[in-house]
Order: sequence, then C-alpha cells, then structure tokens
Amino acid sequence: MKNLLVTGGAGFIGSNYVRLVLDAHDDVSVVNLDALTYAGNLENLAGLEEHARYRFVRADIVDQAAMESALEGVDVDQIVHFAAESHVDRSIEDPTAFIRTNVIGTQHVIDFGRRRGIDRMVHVSTDEVYGQLGPDDPAFTEETPIQPNSPYSASKASSDLLVRAAFHTHGFPAVITRCSNNYGPYQFPEKLIPLMVTNAMEDQPLPVYGDGRNVRDWIWVGDHCRAVDAVRERGEPGRAYNIGGRSERTNLEVVKAILAALDKPESLITYVKDRPGHDLRYAIDDTVISSELDFTPSMQFEEGIERTVAWYRDHETWWRSVKSGGYLGYYERMYGDRLGQS
Ligand code: NAD
Ligand code: DAU
Repeated sequence: MKNLLVTGGAGFIGSNYVRLVLDAHDDVSVVNLDALTYAGNLENLAGLEEHARYRFVRADIVDQAAMESALEGVDVDQIVHFAAESHVDRSIEDPTAFIRTNVIGTQHVIDFGRRRGIDRMVHVSTDEVYGQLGPDDPAFTEETPIQPNSPYSASKASSDLLVRAAFHTHGFPAVITRCSNNYGPYQFPEKLIPLMVTNAMEDQPLPVYGDGRNVRDWIWVGDHCRAVDAVRERGEPGRAYNIGGRSERTNLEVVKAILAALDKPESLITYVKDRPGHDLRYAIDDTVISSELDFTPSMQFEEGIERTVAWYRDHETWWRSVKSGGYLGYYERMYGDRLGQS
C-alpha cells in the first residue's frame, strides 16, 4: 500500500484528485490534510467519510507543529501538494495570506517530506508563473523564464523555486506541475466559469473584466488530475511538467458558450473595470508531458462546458450554500466529536 498525503484536498482540484486516486488505485491510501479555509469544503468529499482507504485531518501547513501533530503516527510515502491560496483577485486585495500559505506553507510541506524520507512530492503549480503572452507568441514551454505578474503568481513562483532548491540541495524527490485554467465540478464560484454559470442561472449580470479579449487555456479538472497522477507515478524528480487543455478561448467566448448552454440572453454580459495587471494570454506547449508521460487531455471544451453547466444545475444546493457561506459549518456537523483528533 502506498500512503499518500494530499494537501488541500478539500478544495476544487484536490477533492477531484482524491476521488480519482481512490477510484484508480486499490493500493493507495489517502490522508487529506486541509485547513478548511473559505475555499475548503468537506461537502466536496461527501460520501468518502467512511471509505476504508481515506481519512481527513484538519491542519494549517503554515503551523508546522499543528501539521506534525495532526500526522503523528500516520505513514506517509508520497505527497501531492495542492494547498494554496488560489484566487488572483484576492491576492491583489491582500497578498499576505498568499505569502504565508504558498511560500512558507510549501517550505513546511517540503520539510515535513524530508523528515519522513518520502519517495515523491508533486508540487502543483501554475502556468501563471511564466507571466503573460502576446497574441502571437509561442506557448509556454518548461524553458520559458519565470516572470510572474500578480502577487498570486509571484507566491507560486517562489514556491516553485523552493521546491527546486530542495531538489538541488538535498536531492529531495520533488516534481513540479504547471497547469492552465481548470474548470468542472466543485469549483468555487469566485472563478470565472462557476461565477458566470451560477450568476446566469440566477439571471444576474455576468461581470466581464475589461474588453473580454484576454485568453486562457481551459482544461477539464479530471484531465488535470490524471496528469498530476501520471507525474506522481512516472515523473522525473527535479523536473517541471506543463499541463494544458489544448483549448485557448477568449473570456468572451467562454461566457457566450455558458449563456448558450443555459439558453440565457447575451444581454446579461456586463463589462466592468479591468483587473489591475490583468495578464493578456496564457497558452501551454504540452510536448514534454505528452511525449514522455503519454498524457493528453481527453475533454473537448464544448462538451466540458455542457457537463459543467449540467453539474451546477444538478448541484444547486451545493453552490447556493457555498455562495451564502453556509457550508462553513460542515466540518463541525460531520466531525464534531472528532475535532482536534487525526
Ligand atoms: P482552491 O482554492 O479551490 O483550494 C485550495 C485548498 O487549499 C482549500 O481546500 C483550502 O482549504 C486549502 N488550504 C488553503 N490554505 C491552506 C493552509 N494554509 N493549510 C492547509 N490547507 C490550506 O484551489 P484549487 O483551484 O483547487 O487549486 C489547487 C492548487 O492547484 C493550487 O496550488 C493552485 O495554485 C493550483 N492550480 C490551480 C489552477 C486552477 O485553475 N484552479 C490551475 C493551475 C494550478
Ligand atoms: O492559469 C492557471 C490559473 O488559473 C490558476 O493558477 C489560478 O489558481 C486560477 O484562479 C486561474 O487564474 P485566472 O486569474 O486566470 O482565473 P479567474 O477565473 O480568476 O479568471 C479567468 C479570466 O476571467 C481572467 O482573464 C479574468 C477573467 N474574469 C474573472 C472573473 C472572476 C472576468 O472577466 N470576470 C470575473 O468575474
């Protein structure tokens, strides 16, 4: 049995990854360590509470002692590190939490992994560390210089450098992934796609920043999780792997696709003040991961949007509770008698 520590497994991508790993591997057990910030929601993992190969522990990676005590007596062979502050707009408002979790927290995860002598850590990073592209620039490769533009991407770039340094200095067996924009089930409705889907369902305005011509590459969250798992199993320590969805779209194209899927009018689109320092375009060259690890994304964007819209339509209680903040009591309701225990 491989004992896998997943950090941030109560968030959007982490919860999808926990489900994928438990389904795909009978010989992997998962300990999900998460602080349950505003973005962490145990309802994302509903149904796994009694799973024989799964357990949840609550701890903050910034608090080394708390992390160590939550994992006392727990075997850990590998780590997949998702825990982070992840929203660019929040980092512009208040960068401190990003430095704490993404930089200091990542160092603590590395230190914990070194103390335990783990055989693999996957550090889940982002394509935003490369900065932005012009309309006709070639896509980001793993050799593109690191040039982050927002406090969020600067904090993620810092964490990448700490991971790199741990490999170089100590031979720590870490691998970095840099993925583009994810979408799909359980995404917190502050990010573009779930915000637009849920606003449209409520006939609320859809706030498009600037002129809506910024371009992102969109990947189905399940494809990202498969790629992370391929890197965990077959990636080479010390390397970074780009992951993308082969689906570049302008924000306006994305929003119009959502409105069409919901049969809602384009008059809901409202242009608002641009995000400061708004990166123009991200695009991924995925030659390395496709040729070396045999990973290619499977979901077409048009089908992924239909599925995402269907998921939010079928999970209205989930997103209404998230939008109202009502989910924040879930841990106490589900685990109240086990609070403070691992
Ligand atoms: P998310 O915001 O949905 O989830 C983050 C999770 O981390 C939450 O469960 C939160 O409670 C937990 N967390 C935050 N601070 C913590 C701390 N100090 N200690 C322990 N847990 C803490 O994020 P996401 O969108 O699922 O992103 C996951 C990872 O993937 C992040 O590292 C992000 O940078 C990276 N990433 C995200 C995308 C994307 O499009 N969302 C793309 C590429 C990379
Ligand atoms: O590229 C990977 C990154 O993608 C991840 O590392 C981040 O964690 C993730 O949040 C995401 O960052 P973005 O800033 O690209 O995602 P966001 O959903 O915030 O915005 C996507 C685009 O949509 C961006 O160009 C800004 C725009 N936007 C966003 C919001 C929330 C709007 O026009 N209106 C909005 O209300």
